[in-house]
Amino acid sequence: MVYSKRVDSRKFDQPREIEARVGIIKRADGSAYFKIGKTIAIAAVYGPRELYPAFKQNPETGILRCNYDMMSFSVTERKKPGPTRRSVEISLVTENALLPALDLSLFPNTVIDVFIQIIQADAGTRCAGISAAAMALADAGIPMKDLVSSISVGKVGDKIVLDLNKEEEDYEEGSTDIPVAIMPRNGEISLLQLDGDVEKEELLQALKLAKKGCDEIYKIQRQALKERYGGSAQDEL
Ligand code: CDP
Repeated sequence: MVYSKRVDSRKFDQPREIEARVGIIKRADGSAYFKIGKTIAIAAVYGPRELYPAFKQNPETGILRCNYDMMSFSVTERKKPGPTRRSVEISLVTENALLPALDLSLFPNTVIDVFIQIIQADAGTRCAGISAAAMALADAGIPMKDLVSSISVGKVGDKIVLDLNKEEEDYEEGSTDIPVAIMPRNGEISLLQLDGDVEKEELLQALKLAKKGCDEIYKIQRQALKERYGGSAQDEL
């Protein structure tokens, strides 16, 4: 199926408009807001703090605990409150996407809690959540090897495109959605999921596009941290 023009007139390699801010939840140790098109994620970080129950503590390392959820009003069909199979899976892949950027052996016996809420969903919410969470961790002053930047790529009709919105995800007989997270400085991929069909060559092309998208997000994430912390944020990252 030929996909000649994107539903919202973007170029095939163009992400939606992105906005990012840190320090939005004052009670949290770190927090961030990340908006990409109509998808909005907020993240709050608490910790490192002592892990309870105490038998779960590990004297060798701290642990990262991510909790992803969507607000009931974030989607057109009300989302029932509480965890679902989907939110449990996304919480887990989010943890795995963020872990390579952290050295939790610095914080034995502790937990770092990361809460991610989707305020408005128009596809790409796990990626927006990861990009927000990485900024919130940095905002909490947790030493990081790098930020983690995340965006979805995929195949709509016959085209490989960057940052699918919901209408594109649902296009015709369904698209291929490939959420990706990257630590931009060394290019390490910490999330790669694939929902749909794609040829090897197309996947390679999609990954190149994801790298380009993550580089753009990285700039915006760093800018948001710089706006709060001045020059020092750049040195710390
Ligand atoms: O959001 P993401 O692309 O990471 O995950 P998904 O499971 O592929 O969901 C794609 C989109 O479906 C979400 O971003 C929402 O816009 C929509 N969705 C929904 O309308 N109701 C749900 N209960 C779950 C997802």
